[in-house]
Amino acid sequence: MKALVLSGGSGTRLRPITHTLAKQLVPVGNKPVLFYGLEAIAAAGVTETGIVVGDTRAQIEAAVGDGSRFGLDVTYVWQREPLGLAHAVKTARDFLGDDDFVLYLGDNVVLDGITDFVERFRECRPAAQILLARVDDPRQFGVAQVAADGRVTGLQEKPRHPRSDLAVVGVYLFSAAVHKAVAEIEPSARGELEITDAIQWLIDHDLRTDAGVMTGYWKDTGNVPDMLEVNRLVLRSLEPSTAGLVLDSEISGQVVVGPGARVTGSSIVGPAVIGAGTTVTNSRIGPSTSIAEDCRIADSWIRDSIVMPRASITGVRPLESSLIGQDVEIARTPGPSGAHRLVLGDRSQVRVAS
Ligand code: TTP
Repeated sequence: MKALVLSGGSGTRLRPITHTLAKQLVPVGNKPVLFYGLEAIAAAGVTETGIVVGDTRAQIEAAVGDGSRFGLDVTYVWQREPLGLAHAVKTARDFLGDDDFVLYLGDNVVLDGITDFVERFRECRPAAQILLARVDDPRQFGVAQVAADGRVTGLQEKPRHPRSDLAVVGVYLFSAAVHKAVAEIEPSARGELEITDAIQWLIDHDLRTDAGVMTGYWKDTGNVPDMLEVNRLVLRSLEPSTAGLVLDSEISGQVVVGPGARVTGSSIVGPAVIGAGTTVTNSRIGPSTSIAEDCRIADSWIRDSIVMPRASITGVRPLESSLIGQDVEIARTPGPSGAHRLVLGDRSQVRVAS
């Protein structure tokens, strides 16, 4: 069995972050979202992994390399344009050959991993097997109807009137039968080759498609609130450790202070992680906060947030529910005016308190 991880796409819902960074590389708990998926694939015993990349291919390749660090053997597949998930499968046809494969959306996080799901497919060998999760509002998802014997009888894409509460999770298992389906379907109204249409094609042609319903945590991290939610969850499983220097500070709960970090006159409330080489001075950090490597935080309060590498935050309090990009600088306005002064790139989003 092989794996195909989709790490292209446009990431429009995460702009402006995705103007300069692949959305799959946004760190949660100071680790790129994509790495959680790669670890889950390796844990399921799959080694040969294709990663579909688009415009951000250089960044993804620099971050993942040959995959050996994850125990994977990685091949990159370039998708010229993000023309849909089924189009990505079509683009990877040569890499996949006639092998079974797990298709994993690189921005999805499945906290309990995919090992059971992969093992069941290996035992039952259907044409396809999809993973489902019960959700409160299925209208924003692909939705599946499943018969009592576990077979999928139909799919709806973002339906106005969902026929079940079972959302399709971004992890699928396919036999080579899917290539015929992908070749036969037409682009959807939004101009993409949809994987749900390919699965529906299999169902319509009586090719057995099974479903597994997961009970653990799953998130498709398409937007900022989702990223913050995954960050909160991932941080809860941190093993506390202090490699850096902590002076005149209070540390409580699950807190990781990375090597070369320096925390002075501050309070860190876990779960929280302070990246390597970061300095935190006279500040309050946490809970649910990830500060990446080489940041400078002074005289600030930050909670429920993700701060990416080399950001500098001075005299800002409180800051919450924020996603701060690489090399961003936020500082208090000097002088008495009290006015906000902003230099913001296209599509930036700022909420000011006054
Ligand atoms: P999506 O989140 O559905 O698409 P997107 O990345 O274009 O995001 P947005 O809607 O915010 O513009 O994609 C799911 C995953 O699949 C994600 O990791 C990107 C990847 N992908 C590809 O690799 N190729 C594609 O053609 C598409 C559509 C997505």
